[in-house]
Amino acid sequence: MRAAIIRTAHFNAAHQLYVKEWSQEKNFELFGKCANPNFHGHNYEIEVRLSGEVDPVTGMIINLKELKDIIKEEIEDRFDHKNLNLDCPEFKDLMTSVENIVYVIWKILREKLDDKFDLRVRLYETPRNFAEYPAD
Ligand code: NI
Repeated sequence: MRAAIIRTAHFNAAHQLYVKEWSQEKNFELFGKCANPNFHGHNYEIEVRLSGEVDPVTGMIINLKELKDIIKEEIEDRFDHKNLNLDCPEFKDLMTSVENIVYVIWKILREKLDDKFDLRVRLYETPRNFAEYPAD
């Protein structure tokens, strides 16, 4: 039997959406408050969804403690209370949009998890704005 298990986590981080070749006005027009030159914070909420075979002996897809530790060490410790634009090399040449951040998180976790699991990550920038990777 296959099933999916979901673990949530969160981190607080600052960012700015800004295309430096554009004027201040054009940046504000497209990105709104996210273009604020002095940065601003979000309470990012993550949902990590793993699907796979349920082990007939343990009844589990993965030991949730193991998943929790991977998310803490690889994502929370890396991004919590950071300025994503300035402190995190992952975003040196990448816009800190919710689409890009969720992709970066997926890529980091994908390398840490066994290939037998399908992995999907959802990232909430606000309760109403969130992104998922992969798309389908
Ligand atoms: Ni923002």
